Amino acid sequence: MTIRIAPSILAADFGHLAEEIARCDAGGADWIHVDVMDGCFVPNLTYGAKVIETVRRLTSLPLDVHLMVVEPEKYLESFAAAGAGVLTVHQEAAPHLHRQLQRIRELGCRAGVALNPGTPVESIRDVVPDLDLLLVMTVNPGFGAQRFLDSTLGKVARARQMLDAAGTGASLEVDGGIARETIASCWRAGADTFVAGNAIFTSSDAAAEISALRTACTHRA
Ligand code: DX5
Ligand code: ZN
Repeated sequence: MTIRIAPSILAADFGHLAEEIARCDAGGADWIHVDVMDGCFVPNLTYGAKVIETVRRLTSLPLDVHLMVVEPEKYLESFAAAGAGVLTVHQEAAPHLHRQLQRIRELGCRAGVALNPGTPVESIRDVVPDLDLLLVMTVNPGFGAQRFLDSTLGKVARARQMLDAAGTGASLEVDGGIARETIASCWRAGADTFVAGNAIFTSSDAAAEISALRTACTHRA
């Protein structure tokens, strides 16, 4: 299985965003993760289409856009036009999940769904064929630099089983508290795509950190 590392710009220095992204690009990042928060679904506010568009011009890597917002359907079109490659909506914010996943694909993006730590994998069973990505949150969403929740590992494993049983090629992503110490257990549980904010952007050498994260998956502790 291919390992994909997606630095989250939430932890980047926005005064030097171009350089921060260039470092990730040169350091072998696979995707750039963009956390959109609305102050309603989560108790924090970040950015929207303008920043997606800006990041789009700074890199050719796919943009992995994580929508922590209520009524995500309001933003799908503008975020797709701004250059999103993956659009991930939260199950908890999308009562018409099937319709929204269809819409995301119609817009030419990969369709993702995210699950909070308290939301069971079972809740998205019926949309597995409509998914290109399943994001299992390994912290409660809203902030970077939180402690990884070990209790989410069982869910990552159940998500892997569900995707495999359905025979889908959808990616299985984890997000929150991913670092050298936590990434291997997620990989062993079946995740293939790893978001990391703090671990990469607080490091003095982003390239070395990206490569250490990748290596940690395949080397036994
Ligand atoms: C949290 C966001 C994450 C966050 C991860 O709500 O969805 O993407 O940026 O940050 P770290 O890796 O610092 O936990
Ligand atoms: Zn995220």
